[in-house]
Amino acid sequence: MAKGFAFSVNGKPVSVAPANEETPLLNVLRNELGLMGTRFGCGLEQCGCCMVLIDGQPEKSCTKPVWSVAGKTITTVEGLGSEARPHPLQQAFLDEQAGQCGYCLSGILISAKALIDANPSPTRAEIAAALDGNICRCGSHNRI
Ligand code: FES
Ligand code: FES
Repeated sequence: MAKGFAFSVNGKPVSVAPANEETPLLNVLRNELGLMGTRFGCGLEQCGCCMVLIDGQPEKSCTKPVWSVAGKTITTVEGLGSEARPHPLQQAFLDEQAGQCGYCLSGILISAKALIDANPSPTRAEIAAALDGNICRCGSHNRI
């Protein structure tokens, strides 16, 4: 019988029992919990589009085994805001039309949220450093 793991996602308690406890958190979020905002890019911790907050820290979910998040608090991009009530960061990205295709933006928003939670008035250099683990395939880094 598959082992179950309980944790919280976007403020709600969840419990999952994947066939393989090494299943990446990203797969569980997308395939079992229906949270499609977190993206699969490289699967190798190289691009950052799978970033989520785990106990408030930005982490790549593509290689994070689900067993390792048992008891933890996860925030995905869906937990930042909604279409009706976007987080100020989401609104800013919309207002500035920062992205192009948008594929990287979930991860970038998560990294940006972690930054402003820790440092509400970052310098440009601090922003660049915080987003260093996120790759934009469209080459929109400067605009973002
Ligand atoms: S998909 Fe996780 S870092 Fe690229
Ligand atoms: S906007 Fe297309 S990957 Fe970043």
